[in-house]
Amino acid sequence: MSTSNVIVEKIDRVAVLTINRAEKRNALDQATRREFIQTLDTLGHDDAIRVVVVTGAGDKAFVAGADITEFEGRTSVDQYRVMSEPTIFDAVDRFPKPVIAMINGFALGGGCELALACDIRIAADSAKLGQPEINLGIIPGGGGTQRLPRLVGTGTALKLLFSGALIDAAEALRIGLVDEVVPAAALRDHTLGLAAGIAEKSPVALRLIKEAVRASVRGSLDEGLRQETALFGLAFSSEDKTEGVKAFLEKRKAEFRGR
Ligand code: COA
Repeated sequence: MSTSNVIVEKIDRVAVLTINRAEKRNALDQATRREFIQTLDTLGHDDAIRVVVVTGAGDKAFVAGADITEFEGRTSVDQYRVMSEPTIFDAVDRFPKPVIAMINGFALGGGCELALACDIRIAADSAKLGQPEINLGIIPGGGGTQRLPRLVGTGTALKLLFSGALIDAAEALRIGLVDEVVPAAALRDHTLGLAAGIAEKSPVALRLIKEAVRASVRGSLDEGLRQETALFGLAFSSEDKTEGVKAFLEKRKAEFRGR
């Protein structure tokens, strides 16, 4: 399944979604954003796929942000209309399966925000991340002012947002912006290994964990705990739970079917 700007490669239960505009450092123009959302929607309905890995084509960039050429001459009303469309960030956030950002180079602006919307971020040691919108006289519009402080803390987020500075992968790891850094040459194998391991788990439980953890950053502790209890009840009634418990007692590996 491929479109011009978005390529999908299926490896067993894992789909690698590659944003394919290497010559433009995988900058997100409107066509690419729409293709990304459509592709993700298709993968969400594909029961054979249990984990999605998002990356950028080439070895220079994950995603270098919104396509800046589209900003020129665009009115506020036009921009508002564009931003009122479903976003790639919401699509990833609400996606019912784990999404891993495989950060293979520059993750800037909307690229950093795309990584922020993903569930796990694995970066190559050569990656650079930042929110340089300030240098264009604008502010992040893909959740950067909301997800970044939740992940790294208010002061560290404001430092990045005010300065527009790019940080390297080691610094991103130190502040908690990425979860793991690996040598660039090992990035794909390492990320696919992680994804394959997750893909063996119960799709039902994965989905409920994602929902519960998302609730933890959105509402109060009490609301989150109530939601966790409700979702636990749902997991408890799944066939995957019956299989998981049975497999443990029979000392064999569970075969989860997502029911
Ligand atoms: N929008 C549109 N085009 C972009 C782009 C973006 N966000 N980022 C890179 N490109 C284009 C460049 O204009 C250039 O196009 P050209 O070959 O037609 O001149 C091509 O991609 C290669 O970029 P270049 O700057 O030559 O590559 P580099 O490796 O030297 O630098 C970056 C890479 C990502 C550091 C640099 O391109 C950059 O700073 N991009 C903008 C990042 C940004 O501000 N993002 C936030 C947007 S809100």
